[in-house]
Amino acid sequence: MLTRRGTLLGIGGFPLVIGGCGQSQLALDQSPSKRNLLKIPQLLSGQKKASYTEYNLTVQTGTSTFLEGRSTSTLGINQDYLGPTLKMDVGSTVRINVNNTLQEGTTLHWHGFHVPAKYDGTPHQTIAPGKTWTAQFEARQKPSLFWYHSHAHKQAGPQVYRGLAGPIIVQEPDNIGSGLPVDYGVDDVPLIVQDRLFGNDGEFIYARSMHDIMMGMQGDTLLVNGVVDPVFECKTEVLRLRLLNGSNARIYDFEFETRQSFSMIASDGGLLESPLKTSRLRLSPGERAEILVDMRHGMPRRLKATSTSNGMGVMGRDMMGERWRRGNNGRTGGKSVFNVLLIVPNETLNPSPSVPTTLMRHGVIDPATAVKTRQFVLQMGMGMGMRARNGFTINGRSMDMGRIDERVKLNTTEIWDVQNASWMPHPFHVHDVQFRILDRNGSPPAPHEAGLKDTVLLSPRERVRLLLSFKDYADPDVPYMYHCHILEHEDAGMMGQFVVEP
Ligand code: C2O
Ligand code: CU
Ligand code: CU
Repeated sequence: MLTRRGTLLGIGGFPLVIGGCGQSQLALDQSPSKRNLLKIPQLLSGQKKASYTEYNLTVQTGTSTFLEGRSTSTLGINQDYLGPTLKMDVGSTVRINVNNTLQEGTTLHWHGFHVPAKYDGTPHQTIAPGKTWTAQFEARQKPSLFWYHSHAHKQAGPQVYRGLAGPIIVQEPDNIGSGLPVDYGVDDVPLIVQDRLFGNDGEFIYARSMHDIMMGMQGDTLLVNGVVDPVFECKTEVLRLRLLNGSNARIYDFEFETRQSFSMIASDGGLLESPLKTSRLRLSPGERAEILVDMRHGMPRRLKATSTSNGMGVMGRDMMGERWRRGNNGRTGGKSVFNVLLIVPNETLNPSPSVPTTLMRHGVIDPATAVKTRQFVLQMGMGMGMRARNGFTINGRSMDMGRIDERVKLNTTEIWDVQNASWMPHPFHVHDVQFRILDRNGSPPAPHEAGLKDTVLLSPRERVRLLLSFKDYADPDVPYMYHCHILEHEDAGMMGQFVVEP
């Protein structure tokens, strides 16, 4: 009889079947090799200076091996593909130097962060080839998982696809008081989930057709931290996974093969009020969630992601526990199921802290204090060909860097009423703020959406009302963005600009 450890790391080539608890069996008919151990992004804590913590990031080209025996041209930050995890303390001042060694312009945007617009890393802060751009700001975030990625003008899709993205973990100094697993790479693990399409030569294939732009670029191979079908050896009773949907366009439902439940503890911008027990979790591009997985049963568990092709009609609206609904066009939808992570527990597990019952108290802002309601209507033209690029609009207009679409007043609260008038889902993202979802189609948000959010998924014909407060930073000249986080839609113009005026 093989030990679990032997089957995972030592002995290849054995078909392995591990009995589940009377449920589906976890069958591994492949030989795990060192190649598909989960990679943990390097942790970059920065250099502490007298008045700030400094991070040096170099945007560079690279070569990566995702598929056996084939190499892929990639982009990365300080490495060949993706970037290190930036660790920031709540309240600390950070200075980030971004050196662009590419032959093309790029940017790095701190997704989910509340920063002055001139440091937001949008197309207005494009870094020319060979140049270095410095952003400096205070990490005024709640502890959570954020991320940075290219926001290059009309090139965010291809640049993120090739690798320009990385995680940011914001935490209390010295991790005091969370009561949650915080041992990075051991029981606190970021998972950057991305789908890619490979050519026979091993190179990435990016949007070749209008279809890829309309639906958003979707691949058939899932990379998790840049690894296909990875395995993780778990040493603790409880594992904290920080999930980031870093895909260009795919929406995933995460679920264990055994349907094992887990606790969701955080949404985009911070912890939930209390852990939420569930067995299924949907994330659209740009969204994050943190979950705690109990491994005390000692059995391997495989996390999977189910995804339906974006063009398949109305999707299920119940974000948890419901199967994809049948498309209104009568098709059942092109469903893909991907392996996200095989978690194999050690023979003996180190004890984990018991999960606190209260994670964070959310201050409640009274919607009645909102001074203004703005409407945002997301639309896609149906036309194909050259004109379709003008078909990606918000309020009938495509992105224009020279036009400010909305002007909001500093120190005010607003309601943004967002409607999806198109036939496919769009994740709507707003810079500068963490907002609250007031309601979705007139009903209060489900518990997993009741916390801090910066990206919200709208299925076709859905409507959400968001409550946003604009604080601290005003700049009448430099805008922030709001946009669809399907990067091909963003690049094609489903984006607008707002300034916060003093
Ligand atoms: Cu994650 Cu405007 O982007
Ligand atoms: Cu953003
Ligand atoms: Cu979209």
